[in-house]
Amino acid sequence: MVKRQLPKPAELFELMRFKKPELDARKRRLDAALTIEDLRDIARRRTPRAVFDYTEGAAEGEISLARARQAFQDIELHPSILRDVSKVDTSTTVLGGSSAMPFGIAPTGFTRLMQTEGETAGAGAAGAAGIPFTLSTLGTTSIEGVKAANPGGRNWFQLYVMREREVSYGLVERAAAAGFDSLFFTVDTPVAGARLRDRRNGFSIPPQLTLSTVLDAIPRPWWWYDFLTTPKLEFASLTSTGGTVGELIDSAMDPSISFADLDVIRGMWPGKIVVKGVQNVEDSKKLADLGVDGIVLSNHGGRQLDRAPVPFRLLPDVVREVGDDLEVMIDTGIMNGADIVASVALGARFTLVGRAYLYGLMAGGRAGVDRTIAILSEQVVRTMKLLEVASLDELGPQHVTQLQRLQPVPPSPRSVVRDA
Ligand SMILES: Cc1cc2nc3c(=O)[nH]c(=O)nc-3n(C[C@H](O)[C@H](O)[C@H](O)COP(=O)(O)O)c2cc1C
Repeated sequence: MVKRQLPKPAELFELMRFKKPELDARKRRLDAALTIEDLRDIARRRTPRAVFDYTEGAAEGEISLARARQAFQDIELHPSILRDVSKVDTSTTVLGGSSAMPFGIAPTGFTRLMQTEGETAGAGAAGAAGIPFTLSTLGTTSIEGVKAANPGGRNWFQLYVMREREVSYGLVERAAAAGFDSLFFTVDTPVAGARLRDRRNGFSIPPQLTLSTVLDAIPRPWWWYDFLTTPKLEFASLTSTGGTVGELIDSAMDPSISFADLDVIRGMWPGKIVVKGVQNVEDSKKLADLGVDGIVLSNHGGRQLDRAPVPFRLLPDVVREVGDDLEVMIDTGIMNGADIVASVALGARFTLVGRAYLYGLMAGGRAGVDRTIAILSEQVVRTMKLLEVASLDELGPQHVTQLQRLQPVPPSPRSVVRDA
């Protein structure tokens, strides 16, 4: 039996630790977020439902995105032991320049809609952290505005080749003139994927005031205050139609673009060229033969073809075939620094984050994006230390096993006969 006694006031006093209260509510909120999922929860509370759903949602049944995230969860990480990891070097080179971390910010359209600071916050935070920022053709800040927000850092430009070729080419010229060093040509969007959440929410660009949007605004006054009191959304290249994003994309994109367009763009662009949205080994080989500098294995965050291949699952095969000829990057589903480390271990030169960045942006503007980058960076460093690797080059396939959940069904003898 333990002998009981009355608590002594001096001992009680020793146990009491009152922290100085944080008076800045935004900082308090963001500091309390320990994961990207925590930032997402804050974002959801602060952003109108239709805007949040536009950002978070994917196409059709949202299966591509769910599988991509599941694939990252279904890994086993294999640490080594007794190596000095008091310091780890997370820096890398990508597309002829450096990056402090093996991830950068993916291109996203309509970003100022999510939070009014939009691309300015993304580019500024990326510049401060020493990682690259990518501006979308459907961005809501001009090319020059992004350059001003990230004057000393690396800016990349994502290109959609649209029906109006001259508009696309004009953007390429402006991005080159502003010193953007790499061009990402997105090829997975001949038409828009079916973003059903947007249709169900009646989400339009610009947002329209209906009875339900007004009711939804009541608990989210700050978003509306920002939206109504800051400069009007300005698109780098499009005139808004009042339709859904899908309708806007369908009217702007040209479903007939081909490899010939890649040739034209290469002739115009002085920097590195990357093709974004590659989804099989054959296309990767073809692009390597054509001499592009990089590819992004991506299914557009699940927003285009649903039930598309999981990029992370494609990665080892693609790296084996073309990894020596071009830089293989990957996105879709990254929510944790360990996802990034696992991708590098399986041969990715670099990774891009879309929603992880946008959740931070919606949670707290520039400070929220800083928080996203800090969370992912801490997770990268901690995962590397626990794996006992001191630099990214030390990572290899021996550190990751992809555990099998879904696997292709082998063709049945009958279907082989029928095909023959
Ligand atoms: C709201 C939103 C808008 C996007 N807009 C574009 C775009 O304009 N151009 C593009 O190439 N990709 C776009 N993407 C795809 C991202 O570049 C990236 O491939 C994807 O977000 C990666 O998946 P993740 O969100 O799971 O990180 C967008 C993604 C989101 C979530």
